[in-house]
Amino acid sequence: MRTPLIAGNWKMNGLSADAVALADGVVQRVAGLDGIETVICPPFVHLPGVAGRLSDGIHLGAQNCADAGQGARTGEIAADMLADLGVRYVILGHSERRQFYGEDDATIAARYAQALGAGLRPILCVGETLEERDAGRTQAVVAEQINGVIDRLGSDTGLGHGVIAYEPVWAIGTGRTATAVQAQGVHAFIREILGERQPGLADTMRLLYGGSMKPANAADLLAQPDVDGGLIGGASLDAEDFAAICAAA
Ligand code: G3H
Repeated sequence: MRTPLIAGNWKMNGLSADAVALADGVVQRVAGLDGIETVICPPFVHLPGVAGRLSDGIHLGAQNCADAGQGARTGEIAADMLADLGVRYVILGHSERRQFYGEDDATIAARYAQALGAGLRPILCVGETLEERDAGRTQAVVAEQINGVIDRLGSDTGLGHGVIAYEPVWAIGTGRTATAVQAQGVHAFIREILGERQPGLADTMRLLYGGSMKPANAADLLAQPDVDGGLIGGASLDAEDFAAICAAA
């Protein structure tokens, strides 16, 4: 069975003391929970500070990694540097990276390959904009984003080490959540795509929902058969809210 995974994406928030306090708050509330895996993804600069505060079952994640190994890539962070700090997961292809920094499937695939090479577990984010949903293109967009990465990897090896997060762009930070039925529908579709790529993967790969998940709607979303966890933005900045979502998983 798939172990539920709840990941907190802190995005670009908090100074170092805030990060340590938030990590402590999460550890205090989540450490006793059995049967789930928890990940917290602070900004890069807070990774070393947060790394020292975590306990069993609560892992460290990063919010991106470079598309190449160490070398002349000013402003980037290589995957092996993250692994060296104890990072286990890395978010890739977040819609904010696609929207504000022009990341496309080619660079995301290169980052994915680097992450796998360093032993990290990628959390690949996919999802449609409101315009695309209204135009009936949700499945086409999601399929393109997933296949666009898998095709470029050149091999399906290691794909199963990753996680896919379905994050409808219109639900991110807007307070507007996909209904449980909408989320389940897309997740089931993603499993179909995975099954076509690699038999067995559809059953084992974890699929997270992200987009205004909070304590009030988490149980409903997480109860869906193909929703294996959540990628939490805003609510992960409050230890109590984040812990409540973890408890619902
Ligand atoms: O990575 C997390 C997602 O962007 C969701 O963010 O929970 O603030 O909507 P949100």
